[in-house]
Amino acid sequence: MQSHRQKKKTWLLNIIFAFVCVGLLIFLLEAPDETTSFLPQDEIHAPFHLIKSKKEAETTCLDCHGPSGDAPLQEGHPPKYRCLFCHKRI
Ligand code: HEC
Ligand code: HEC
Repeated sequence: MQSHRQKKKTWLLNIIFAFVCVGLLIFLLEAPDETTSFLPQDEIHAPFHLIKSKKEAETTCLDCHGPSGDAPLQEGHPPKYRCLFCHKRI
């Protein structure tokens, strides 16, 4: 038999679990869909296809795509940490 205290704890854990589920769902719905452009297959981007670690490959993206680069991101570009999570390499 569960004590009163234990029951209360189980109930609380269930509520927390529900909140985590809702949070995850919102996160997934907010995530950009698979139509996001891939990392281009061209001379400029070729080196980045070869670097195994995504994190390492991303370190120089902003040299060109940063505000003062040749190909700055448009205003309203989604949060830009981890480029390659969205602009997948194929
Ligand atoms: C040497 C400069 C340079 C670097 C470094 C660079 N890019 Fe680019 N990128 C460009 C230029 C210029 C274009 C536009 C022409 C083209 O598509 O190649 C472009 C285009 C793109 C596009 C296509 C946008 C569209 O409209 O389809 C994506 C996505 C992109 N880059 C992502 C990245 C990511 C991610 C990195 C880092 C891994 C990166 N780039 C590094 C210069 C660069
Ligand atoms: C959260 C997802 C996400 C991340 C992270 C992300 N992008 Fe994007 N990016 C997009 C979407 C969505 C677009 C607009 C539609 C498209 O071009 O596919 C876009 C567009 C672009 C374009 C086309 C020009 C423009 O501004 O519309 C370039 C270049 C680009 N991103 C480069 C980058 C680079 C470099 C990084 C890392 C510093 C990065 N992106 C990180 C989702 C993302």
